[in-house]
Amino acid sequence: MTLTKITFAALAAAFSFNLAATAADLPPAATKTGVTYATDIKPIFDANCAKCHSGDRAKAKLHMDTLEGVLKGTKMGKIVNAGDSANSFIVKSIAHATSEKDEWMPPTPNKAGAKTLTPEEIGLVRAWIDQGAK
Ligand code: HEC
Repeated sequence: MTLTKITFAALAAAFSFNLAATAADLPPAATKTGVTYATDIKPIFDANCAKCHSGDRAKAKLHMDTLEGVLKGTKMGKIVNAGDSANSFIVKSIAHATSEKDEWMPPTPNKAGAKTLTPEEIGLVRAWIDQGAK
């Protein structure tokens, strides 16, 4: 075994570990049933997203304070893939599972009093999306 081979194997292992870590980093969906925007999700978004994502000056033209706004998404497109939370951009963003740190929401630090969502809150968002984002 040459040194080059060993180095390559180590790099390959490190690389695949990194990829796996990204998928595994998503907190699991909550087991709660009947999760809706109005009862479970809006309070989380109002506290941690809406100050920057509502009204005329909503960042990225994303309105987090209404169900319609969240489903419509940003100026770039949809962030919720109803029925598939693991492939919804919003989940990757709040779970810090995108490669670009400036996509991690809410930004830290911030002056809006918005906090990084807890694994439990992210799990609720996932359950809401998996259950159809109603
Ligand atoms: C302190 C202000 C602030 C808070 C709070 C905030 N955001 Fe953002 N958000 C921004 C800014 C600024 C941008 C970038 C806007 C642009 O690129 O035009 C952004 C962009 C985004 C984008 C688009 C990212 C992209 O690259 O396409 C999404 C999705 C998003 N925010 C979701 C959220 C969610 C969900 C929350 C709450 C968990 C949240 N934001 C909280 C300021 C904030």
